[in-house]
Amino acid sequence: MVVQQIVARPTRTAMFLVLTVAPGSEGAVREFITNVSGLTRTVSFRVPDDQLICVTGIGAHLWDRMFDLPRPRGLHPFQPIVGANHTAVSTPGDLLFHLRADSLDLCFELAHLITDALKDHVTVVDEVHGFKFFDERDLLGFVDGTENPEADDAVAAVTIGNDDEAYAGGSYVIVQRYLHDLDAWNALSTEEQERAIGRRKVNDLEIPDADKAADAHIALASVDDADGNQQQIVRDNMPFGRIGADEFGTYFIGYAKDPAITERMLHRMFVGEPPGTSDRILDFSTPRTGSLYFVPSAAFLDEDHPAV
Ligand code: HEM
Repeated sequence: MVVQQIVARPTRTAMFLVLTVAPGSEGAVREFITNVSGLTRTVSFRVPDDQLICVTGIGAHLWDRMFDLPRPRGLHPFQPIVGANHTAVSTPGDLLFHLRADSLDLCFELAHLITDALKDHVTVVDEVHGFKFFDERDLLGFVDGTENPEADDAVAAVTIGNDDEAYAGGSYVIVQRYLHDLDAWNALSTEEQERAIGRRKVNDLEIPDADKAADAHIALASVDDADGNQQQIVRDNMPFGRIGADEFGTYFIGYAKDPAITERMLHRMFVGEPPGTSDRILDFSTPRTGSLYFVPSAAFLDEDHPAV
């Protein structure tokens, strides 16, 4: 089964494009997505070392409008998660294009080719250009991505298996665009920031469990299954921002073989488990978007499928 390339080494840049599809344009989009792998090769082959990758995700409403096929088991519209103090909002999105490369020109060129081909059919409802910030840090100043699973473990964490046979080789992805209150964050001492994340700032060392705060991000974002095994997702967050607009953000992107894993992390972060202890980083970081997509296998994307 040929999967889309979700697991990759970190790249220097990324673009996140969220599109909605106009009523009546389902056929054009269904036909177009079979061309994305070819378009990607057209751009990537010109600079092979820069590792251009494009992952395509399809939202639940568009799936129902576009295919006469059952929904993949985990595909549903992202449900808002409402805690006492913080809310993970749900915002529109029919298609997600996650473009990564070591230089922005490749992402930009491919994004342009995609949106140009679809220009009579889609609206770009969110567009973020992300960049690497020093040694894999987010704009809060902490190294972000350390505990991602690697190699075969990462592929196993994101790939749907035979429990949903028709869609084996696919995946799910949840994205959220967060904005940070950097002035308030930077008013904290380094020790208070480390307490909020659960790791040391300079050298990224994890704070031992005995000393870790209950509302530390990594305490709440770690989830185990009933047998005590850690449930993993693959993240590829990217910093973004606009100085003049006082905008400083993290684009969160989490892939998983079952979106319930990411949703459980979000529930622990926003509501708390037990309810009440929400993630300290949410006092400084607010999600402005939130959406969920099925990521078909590369083979599924390239083939024709029955229309509604
Ligand atoms: C860990 C930042 C949102 C899931 C981390 C770490 C940082 C970080 C600095 C520690 C290093 C690492 O292991 O990567 C952020 C920021 C976010 C954000 C700035 C948004 C403002 C999220 C969300 C989720 C999530 C929304 C899940 C739904 C995780 C997981 C870990 C982690 C699973 C690893 C926990 C462990 O096993 O130690 N994040 N994160 N993060 N984050 Fe986030």
